[in-house]
Formats: sequence, C-alpha cells, structure tokens
Amino acid sequence: DWTMAEFRSAKIAEIRAQVGTGKVICGLSGGVDSAVAAVLIHEAIGDQLTCVFVDGGILRAGEAEQVVALFRNHYNIPLVHVQAQDLFMDGLAGLTDPEAKRKFIGKTFIDVFDAEAKKIGGADFLAQGTLYPDVIESVSFTGGPSVTIKSHHNVGGLPERMNMKLVEPLRELFKDEVRVLGRELGLTEAFVGRHPFPGPGLAIRIPGEVTRERCDILRKADAIYLEEIRNAGLYDAIWQAFAVLLPVRSVGVMGDHRTYDSVCALRAVTSTDGMTADVYPFDPAFLSRVATRIVNEVAGINRVVYDFTSKPPGTIEWE
Ligand code: XMP
Repeated sequence: DWTMAEFRSAKIAEIRAQVGTGKVICGLSGGVDSAVAAVLIHEAIGDQLTCVFVDGGILRAGEAEQVVALFRNHYNIPLVHVQAQDLFMDGLAGLTDPEAKRKFIGKTFIDVFDAEAKKIGGADFLAQGTLYPDVIESVSFTGGPSVTIKSHHNVGGLPERMNMKLVEPLRELFKDEVRVLGRELGLTEAFVGRHPFPGPGLAIRIPGEVTRERCDILRKADAIYLEEIRNAGLYDAIWQAFAVLLPVRSVGVMGDHRTYDSVCALRAVTSTDGMTADVYPFDPAFLSRVATRIVNEVAGINRVVYDFTSKPPGTIEWE
C-alpha cells in the first residue's frame, strides 16, 4: 500500500527526530496496536528501544507465549518478560469500581515500566500503541457532552507523576489502518487479524472483584468460545468476541446435583473502528454448542447468556 509505505517512512523520521539518542521503553499488551508500534519504533531506533511485556495475570490463554515468540524469534527484538501476577492481583483485591480498577492497572503498568527503565540506566520515553479512537473516547463521546466514558489505560489512565515522555506513533490511525501498517511491517496475517484486546485485559471482563481464581475461570470459558468461533470459520467476520464472568450466581442442575455457580456472558460485535458496534447475529445452534461446552468443561460456571446490546448504548467491554 503506497500510502502506508509513505506513512511508515514519515513516522520513522518523526520518531528519530523526537527521540534523538534517548532510550525508549515500549509496553506490549498482547494486542496488535502495541506490537505494530514496537516494530515501527524498532525500525526507527533499533536497540535504543526496550520492549517490556507485563504479565499481570489478566491475559488470555496462551497470550504471553505468543507475544514472546513473535518478538524474540520472528523479529529478534529483545523483550523483557515481567512476571507481575502478584503485584496486580494483590492490588486488585477489594477493588470493584470499574474506574478504580482501570486506574490501578494503568498506574501499576507505569510502576513496572519505571522499574524496568531503572534497570537499563533510565529511559526518556514510554511508547504506546494509542489509536485515534482511544484519544477521542477518553476525552468525550461523539455528539454528547464532554465526559469521560472510560479511562483508557494507554491515554487518560496514566499517572501525572510519570517521568517519561510519550511516543505514540499510531495516534492518528484507526484500527483498520494499523492492520495495513502491520502487514506493511511484515507482521503475520494471523497476528494482524487478531481481535482487539484492551490494556486492562481480563480485569475489565470480570465485573466486581478480580481474583486469580476468577481470571482462570474466565480464561477457560473465553478459550472455548474463541475455539468454536475459529472452528466455525467466523473469526474474521467478527470485530471482537470474548467472554465476561459475571458477579452473579444462579441455581442449576448437573446430573442429580444442584449447582450454584457463576453466570458467563458472551459478547461478539462487528465494527470498523470500535466507536460504534453491532451485535454479531450467531446462529442459535452455535450459541447452544458454546454454552453446553462451557458449562460442561468449566468448573465454576453453570449458566451462559448472550449480550444483545449494540454500541451505543452499550460499550463493547462491560467496564
Ligand atoms: P469500549 O468498551 O469503550 O471499547 O466500547 C472500544 C474498544 O477499545 C478497547 N478498549 C481498550 N483498549 N486500552 C486499550 O488499549 C483500554 O483501556 C481499553 N478499553 C477498551 C475495547 O476492547 C474495544 O475494542
């Protein structure tokens, strides 16, 4: 794509001008945006860049392995893999308010990046894969009054005391454009085509308190749902699909036993930029199959419901 080739070389020049001889830390979330930002910045400044992948226990099944393999083996870009599960889980204990959870996670990511920056003798910049819709939605909502809908952790959620300046080379782009740029940079189709995944991860898909146990339950349900979507050949037709673990228990029956376990909600939407979204109209037989598998295979869930809310008035994520 000629336009993206131009964007790529213009951005590389811009990044070099902004960063000079400084050092940059790039936080990888497991999503497409931060990966594309990292590869672009690496192309611009090479080993002045240190990529940090933080595992706070709020990633999807297999995500850490995939990201580490992509960067270390495919790109040969050095990557620090931080095991920060205790830090995140201890801090999330007792937090139930969605914004409090988002703010804690944003702050804790920065703490980890700060600590990693110290280890390399200080960094001057923090790089993030912030997109245009992230910028808009953290400030106001289209057509409405200027209110914060959610503190996206890669925009509004950053603490003011942060010492590093921001490098955000994707700030003018929409998701579909980031994918074109990713292909231009040689990312595999499988990686570029991945559904978006928010920085605060599974924590905002577990309304109420986040615990290790609930993250494990959600990871299993989510993996089954996505496996069925892939097997049905529907993955690429959907913008984003994921499971949500609700803080509600319901009564059920398994064999001749009464159960009293959590409810899981399934979400799937189509969208072009995440700003508006329509519910994906699955065949009911597909949803039954997923529900049966989740209830049979995931201990802790005994009921599955489908979320039929478009955006607006709903948001894509539940928190
Ligand atoms: P909502 O829930 O606001 O989400 O309709 C719109 C899109 O943004 C993603 N999202 C985030 N991405 N950091 C991110 O990088 C965040 O804090 C964040 N919150 C939501 C969401 O998954 C959807 O694709």
